[in-house]
Amino acid sequence: MARSSNLASNVLGELKHVQARQYPLYNAILKHAFDTHQPVFAKSIFAKRYAELSDDGEWFANQLVANSCLEGYGAQQIWNFSNKLDNDEYARRVRQHALDESRHSTMFISMLNLVYPGLDLDHDTLSKIDDMQPKFTPTQHPDIAKVPEEERLFELESINELVQVHITEIRALVLQYMVRDALLKHAPEESHARLKKFSDSLIRDEAKHINYSAEIFEDYASRGNNKDFFYQMFEDRLCDFNELTKIELEREDIEL
Ligand SMILES: [Fe+2]
Ligand SMILES: [Fe+2]
Repeated sequence: MARSSNLASNVLGELKHVQARQYPLYNAILKHAFDTHQPVFAKSIFAKRYAELSDDGEWFANQLVANSCLEGYGAQQIWNFSNKLDNDEYARRVRQHALDESRHSTMFISMLNLVYPGLDLDHDTLSKIDDMQPKFTPTQHPDIAKVPEEERLFELESINELVQVHITEIRALVLQYMVRDALLKHAPEESHARLKKFSDSLIRDEAKHINYSAEIFEDYASRGNNKDFFYQMFEDRLCDFNELTKIELEREDIEL
């Protein structure tokens, strides 16, 4: 996947792999927003810097643990978000998303062991790594009960939050391609086939997360007078997301 202003086309291409239906309005909205505010994470400098940093095996090992932690934290946050959604269908889809992110958290640790087979971690570190993984399953997960009505998110607020989740998922997809290159750079040859399977599965899941929210957006933007309003909302949330990403990168001394 190219990390350039072609990102919108690439995202739409990825959706075809997960048998997405056609989203004419969403396609136009995504292209417009990406043309107006180029996503910071799609800039080539972002991928270049990741490739440079990931040459260092220790940095990359830590990065895999950090990704496990982020996926685990994301799973819990997304589950909490599902409890706030008034719309049952949105909540069901968001819960499925949380189950996937929980699985990703564990997958990143499996990949760590495949890339560095002789890794000797002390008991303390192993137990911290274990605690970071929520290990949700379809039968073992947090409560699905909704929060009281006065704390719930109704359609407009739900869509607004989902746009933020959606942009994070596009960034996660871009990141998976960078991780894939680094995995294969550091792993012993005999681990490559399994790592490629893990990576394919992560990429497919991130595309699915982009897909279910795109479907919700297409339906929302197609109704009544929502289209223009949704155009603006998507653009505004992308602008906010870019500002936050810039602050994160400055903190890590990455110049754009
Ligand atoms: Fe994920
Ligand atoms: Fe995801």
